[in-house]
Amino acid sequence: MAWEHNTSTAFIGFLLVCVLSVNAGGTEAPKLECDDLNNTTWLDYRQGNLQVQYLLLTRNNTDCASLFTLDSLNETHSTTSFNTSLPTKVIIHGFRALGSKPSWVSSLAQALLRVEDANVLVVDWIDSASFAYNRVVESYKDVAIEISVLINHLKNHGSTLESFHFIGVSLGAHVAGFVGTLFDGKLGRITGLDPAGPLFKGKDVYDRLDPSDALFVEAIHTDSDYFGISIPVGHVDFFLNGGMDQTGCARSRFKSILIYFPVYGYVICDHMRALHVYISALNGSCALVGFPCSTYDNFLLGNCFDCQSTFGGTCPRIGLQENSGLTVHPLPNQQKVYLLTTSSPPFCAHHILVEVEVSPLSKSAELQVALRTVGGPETINSFKLHTKENAYRRLFGHPEVLCRVDSIMLKSTGARFIRQGDMHVVSVCISEFPFKRDRKPLCVTNINLDRFVSWTHEFVQVCES
Ligand SMILES: *[C@@H]1O[C@H](CO)[C@@H](O)[C@H](O)[C@H]1NC(C)=O
Ligand SMILES: *[C@@H]1O[C@H](CO)[C@@H](O)[C@H](O)[C@H]1NC(C)=O
Ligand SMILES: *[C@@H]1O[C@H](CO)[C@@H](O)[C@H](O)[C@H]1NC(C)=O
Ligand SMILES: *[C@@H]1O[C@H](CO)[C@@H](O)[C@H](O)[C@H]1NC(C)=O
Ligand SMILES: *[C@@H]1O[C@H](CO)[C@@H](O)[C@H](O)[C@H]1NC(C)=O
Ligand SMILES: *[C@@H]1O[C@H](CO)[C@@H](O)[C@H](O)[C@H]1NC(C)=O
Repeated sequence: MAWEHNTSTAFIGFLLVCVLSVNAGGTEAPKLECDDLNNTTWLDYRQGNLQVQYLLLTRNNTDCASLFTLDSLNETHSTTSFNTSLPTKVIIHGFRALGSKPSWVSSLAQALLRVEDANVLVVDWIDSASFAYNRVVESYKDVAIEISVLINHLKNHGSTLESFHFIGVSLGAHVAGFVGTLFDGKLGRITGLDPAGPLFKGKDVYDRLDPSDALFVEAIHTDSDYFGISIPVGHVDFFLNGGMDQTGCARSRFKSILIYFPVYGYVICDHMRALHVYISALNGSCALVGFPCSTYDNFLLGNCFDCQSTFGGTCPRIGLQENSGLTVHPLPNQQKVYLLTTSSPPFCAHHILVEVEVSPLSKSAELQVALRTVGGPETINSFKLHTKENAYRRLFGHPEVLCRVDSIMLKSTGARFIRQGDMHVVSVCISEFPFKRDRKPLCVTNINLDRFVSWTHEFVQVCES
């Protein structure tokens, strides 16, 4: 049982996150006549007493939820705006240790309703999701069974199984997966937003989200080394920035310390990024496209830039397009796709390949490279240089398109304790990724770098409109 140690660490993490979210989540001020997710408290928690309720949002009431009950769908006297002719989005939240309600529900519901005329049902299982993580994991299937009763009821009133799209956050993704299992994979779609990892990774597919749970299953991974699951669980699995550490969030290696000195945003920053990127993708201001690749390292080397062999030409996109925009039949299975994102909405990065060639080095070194755009933040990455290799390449995720990169900065930063001489850079080139047919990289050649002294070159470029 090798995972037990990790699990208990993660459990403490979950616990502290939720202690803090009591303070962080209380900002919503719902209108008095609207219904809201239930509040519970640690003390109110009643063991073994499953409490699930549903909130309905439609285009008629995008910012004012109403409690949805089974008997509100009455053929002769309907008391709900649920329309069984429309598709239904089912939002399922995850673990909430101290019963605080998730603060993101209405932004997700509203983003969905902007794109699609649908019934949005929010599953409120806070009362059952609020106890020790391992106890909640024991009861998530009961929640799924409860939801399946609702789905059957809606089916009897005219909804089709294909018209259901479940969106599950963290543990909610596995709840959705088990609802899918109960309907033999005939639900339309399941989107897992950083599906929970602790206690799930080693489980049988029956017990976790997997591609057999719906006609189309997709997942977005943003914290697969900690709260999220590290294995692919869908037809297509988007690994953002490699799926572990997100730009603008604290590095994972500090997380284990941070859970003892908790800072709310830091601890679950990576884990919740999947949700924020998804909401932003629904807004649709830019495309978040994934590229299939064997590993993230290989992707970063710029080796995976087309979707021809894996997907017949169309790369998958995060959002509501049917099958994420995939046209290939049969659908792929647990296909990992990679993309870089920026640290803030709308999160879309322009992938720029930086290639560096250096003259032979006598000692290993580190070279910092920054791409800059006036008015935009800079994108910095470090190359670890070895004595045996002269050519290096790495993808940068820059907020601006290549033609708006107006300068590049190089700095030799490595080998702090070993006297290391100056460095000669034979060439540094930047090019747009995926490559254009007439790919012509922008290059600067023959650069002498003094140690710790930054060198900057300004490009004169114009963007063709
Ligand atoms: C949730 O609990 C807080 C504090 O007890 C209370 O102020 C708030 O009105 C409650 N909200 C709902 C929707 O029950
Ligand atoms: C909501 O909270 C109230 C008060 O704690 C409780 O009586 C009720 O059963 C809860 N309902 C659900 C569905 O959790
Ligand atoms: C539907 O509504 C009518 C009128 O309010 C009521 O008499 C009837 O019992 C309801 N049917 C169901 C199945 O709830
Ligand atoms: C939605 O609102 C429109 C106009 O306010 C109304 O005509 C329609 O019946 C409503 N639909 C439902 C399902 O409540
Ligand atoms: C339900 O949705 C269908 C399809 O969009 C529409 O034609 C119908 O008017 C809607 N019913 C109500 C009561 O709004
Ligand atoms: C989505 O768009 C709405 C309206 O244009 C905006 O208010 C909201 O902040 C956007 N959300 C994200 C995450 O980009």
